[in-house]
Amino acid sequence: MQVRVLNGVNLDVLGRRDPTVYGNLSLNELETKIYEWAAELQMTVRCRQTNSEGEFIGWIHDAYADADAVIVNPGAWSHYSYAIHDALELLSVPIVEVHLSNIEEREQWRRHSVIADVVTHRVIGKGPDGYREALEYLTAQK
Ligand code: DQA
Repeated sequence: MQVRVLNGVNLDVLGRRDPTVYGNLSLNELETKIYEWAAELQMTVRCRQTNSEGEFIGWIHDAYADADAVIVNPGAWSHYSYAIHDALELLSVPIVEVHLSNIEEREQWRRHSVIADVVTHRVIGKGPDGYREALEYLTAQK
């Protein structure tokens, strides 16, 4: 199973962001864990992060041809990017939306995800382990 893990805006500065909300791991450390979990679960993952919305959308388009599943954490784009919504809508593979923090218990503007209606599954507020849960969910779909 080929899984793309796409992290969006400001996730490159994990570790410098409020650790009480996002934890202490850097993006590099988080991605290392994701690769380890995927190996345990016998899945092939490719992790990517960008602060460019256009690049993020390009990777979603690419996943149409070369991925069996996609895990996305679009960061703040989750709350307003209809462009990312529309790109995800084109995929026919399972999509898991992950958020490190519990967006449903934070500021009002974070409680709404514009991509929620086009994803297959959501994992919210579990910190880095949320990505593991997303991978486990996807293996169970096989
Ligand atoms: C986030 C939650 C978003 O509200 C925020 O803008 C992020 C990270 C999360 O993983 O908890 O950048 O997606």
